[in-house]
Amino acid sequence: MSNIAVLGASFGDEGKGRIVHDFSKDYDWVIRFSGGANAGHTIYRDGVKYVHNLIPSFDWRAPRTRAFLGSGMVIDLPQLHLEVERLFKINPDFAAKIYVDPDAFLVLEEHREEDKARNAHIGSTNRGIGPAYKSKIDRSGVRVRDALNGKTGSNWDRLAIEKLKEKGVQFKHVLEMRQEMRYARLLFEGAQGVMLDINHGVYPYVSCGDATVAGIYASGFSFAVPERVYGVAKCYTTKVGEGPFPTEIFGEEAESLRKLGNEYGATTGRPRRIGWIDLPAIKYACQKGGIDNLILTKFDILNGLKEVKMCAKYSKPPVCSKDFFNAEPQYTTVPGWENAKEDEQLIPFMRKVEKYTGVSVAYVSCGINPEDIMSW
Ligand code: IMO
Ligand code: MG
Repeated sequence: MSNIAVLGASFGDEGKGRIVHDFSKDYDWVIRFSGGANAGHTIYRDGVKYVHNLIPSFDWRAPRTRAFLGSGMVIDLPQLHLEVERLFKINPDFAAKIYVDPDAFLVLEEHREEDKARNAHIGSTNRGIGPAYKSKIDRSGVRVRDALNGKTGSNWDRLAIEKLKEKGVQFKHVLEMRQEMRYARLLFEGAQGVMLDINHGVYPYVSCGDATVAGIYASGFSFAVPERVYGVAKCYTTKVGEGPFPTEIFGEEAESLRKLGNEYGATTGRPRRIGWIDLPAIKYACQKGGIDNLILTKFDILNGLKEVKMCAKYSKPPVCSKDFFNAEPQYTTVPGWENAKEDEQLIPFMRKVEKYTGVSVAYVSCGINPEDIMSW
């Protein structure tokens, strides 16, 4: 079985977490390579809902599966400790399955403060992500390894490291893992989505990490790159924070989908903006992100609609992120479905997706249980 990546093919919150979680039992490692605690990955494990912010969405019940936090991430160590501690109470063995690359940069208190003071107009999650990447790029950043050897980082960071180590979390450079990982099965878990990518997203309304395959290379994994890259998108679109959203809908229609889909930010609780599926944006995300297969989620939420609207094209095909700011969406409709689990009802929708994106749909998901993910 070859290595794979699961990336966001939209504005984040596409359902990557639950897909990664369900796939992870067949992999030896689930590897996060970008972003930080701005990610909110919702997972259902034994019927209980969990939100992972920093910990990869791996299934700890799978005996072989371990998790790696790669060097492209920006890590808030006290926050990581909180997350580990919460899950440790449920399963103390799971912490020893978590590895952190000491080359990752730290999110410090001052970064969180800067977000609050300066980045409200973007709709930042205020987790200090942008300012931490800014310190990294201007060469004044602090790395996990600096806190590990006690040189820098706050007392809180050093305390968090001690506590993480006590619980069994390991700190290993990617090159120390290389020999083992070369012969292992790796699942790379993206954070955010290509439309929020620092290079290719709707700048400046973006996060600051790599949401494309580039982040996998940037974290030092060029020895084990994925052979298949899945992009996850919902069968409608959501977005949190400011910025262009060509297919956005408002009023009662939006409110009813928001409620049905429980579209409130997993990290911040904010109501998500709602819109129809945006095929030109997904096509752009696949082309810029290195995505070669789609996984579409949340079909159950649209159960019972008479017809479903889809944005097939813009009047001008997007070639750069600027083209999303003044996009004129052109819609098409397909018959709705009563029950997404009867998958033949989804055929017209999927035909349009494949026609207008040029990318094959590999899986669809229509519920929160593992059996609700169907290959297409
Ligand atoms: P997952 O991994 C959805 C958005 C924020 C804001 C912008 C910048 O769950 O898909 P930041 O906190 O990075 O300064 O925020 O990016 N954003 C996300 N939106 N899902 C995410 O992650 C996001 N991470 C950041 O809402 O608009
Ligand atoms: Mg999320």
